[in-house]
Amino acid sequence: MKNIFLAFSIIFSIAFSSACVDKGANSGNTSTGGDTGDIKVGVYVDLTGPTSSFGQSTKNGIQLAVDEINQAGGVNGRKIALIIEDDQGRTEQAKTVVEKLIKQDKVVAVLGEVASSNTLAAAPVAQEAKIPMITPSSTNPKVTQVGDYIFRVCFLDDFQGSSIAKFAANDLNGKTAAILGDVNSDYSKGLTEFFEKEFTKLGGRVLAKEAYTQTDPDFKAQLTKIRNLNPDVLYVPGYYGQVGIIARQARELGMNMPLLGGDGWDSPELWSLGGESLKNSYITNHYSADDPNPVIQNFVRTYKAKFNNVAPDSLAALAYDSAKVLADAIKRAGGTDNAKLRDAINATKDFAGVTGTISINAERNAVKPAVVLEVNPATKQLLPRTTIYPEGMSAPTAAANTNTMANGNMMMNANQMSNGNMMMNSNMMNSNSNMNSAMNANK
Ligand code: PHE
Repeated sequence: MKNIFLAFSIIFSIAFSSACVDKGANSGNTSTGGDTGDIKVGVYVDLTGPTSSFGQSTKNGIQLAVDEINQAGGVNGRKIALIIEDDQGRTEQAKTVVEKLIKQDKVVAVLGEVASSNTLAAAPVAQEAKIPMITPSSTNPKVTQVGDYIFRVCFLDDFQGSSIAKFAANDLNGKTAAILGDVNSDYSKGLTEFFEKEFTKLGGRVLAKEAYTQTDPDFKAQLTKIRNLNPDVLYVPGYYGQVGIIARQARELGMNMPLLGGDGWDSPELWSLGGESLKNSYITNHYSADDPNPVIQNFVRTYKAKFNNVAPDSLAALAYDSAKVLADAIKRAGGTDNAKLRDAINATKDFAGVTGTISINAERNAVKPAVVLEVNPATKQLLPRTTIYPEGMSAPTAAANTNTMANGNMMMNANQMSNGNMMMNSNMMNSNSNMNSAMNANK
């Protein structure tokens, strides 16, 4: 055993010293120019604006992934260097900082944004320059339609919207609904459309669609109109900054029906904004930090240890996965040549992420299940209720489950991840308990 170890160290030091002498010896690089030294990756998120909680979590998730990758020796012997830009959550600024990252910093790839409208504003810049962009968490369908250099590692809003509509109709037994959405957000507008389509298909009726903007001080006029119609459920497909206040004002107006939302609710700030009013609310999301799956719990522990004991929300988890998917693609591409990197990202298959198995399809999207989480303000937890699988994908079998466990320890080692191991993080979620009682109790 000792001898084997010794032999390995000798081989390793020979390989290492030759790499030092000959910079061109960077394992398997075939592309020319700019393929030595640190690999520059740009990140653009909102660090100071209305969705800064999304940006902070995203930055942390990416940072954790990159630290792990670099500590394990980098990608093909090169370290990843992050250049992080704050776009203040504004569409024009998102475009400007991505121009800067690409033209001035000469990044080889871009990670971001979160809010779909910001990604939609910046993606054409990356597409034009042929620099691959992976958004961890923008769910609006139009995002990846910008072009063949734009990817995502999350599900889409047609699936997210129809999933919560199914939950409303089947699990909450809702027959009527109202929607209160953000008119200036592509995300919110998409979810409004997709929810209505599915809910109607299931025999439900949408009684009202009311609108707000992120600068509205108050939502009582819209809520009062909705209250008069007395829908069984109220869908609020917005971001945490407004939905917390909407929940509070709805309850103040005596509206006790279940509130439904999407991933945009997910923020540590939701609790202080919405408080107890968030009781009897359900959202769709990408993962739950309270999922007992050991892969997730391992990630949660590592993240908390690094970032002040704050649990990683779904933004952090998706961001972590996006950076690891990118690193894996750079490794397989053998370098950072634009077209090769684009093709390698597109060839991502069965990548074991913390948010589930990631395979990128021909439309540059990831097809993944959604989890429905119950918002529990008493413990400040988002509790897994049920998992909704996209068409053609079913709940993993017990065998796949065992496989997941066995892979638990490999999660933190991006460079060693092998493709092909089935992993579903939502397989241990409690199946849905009797949700009808939640609604009836409030009637
Ligand atoms: N999906 C949202 C959008 O596209 C962003 C988001 C993702 C927010 C995950 C919270 C959690 O705008």
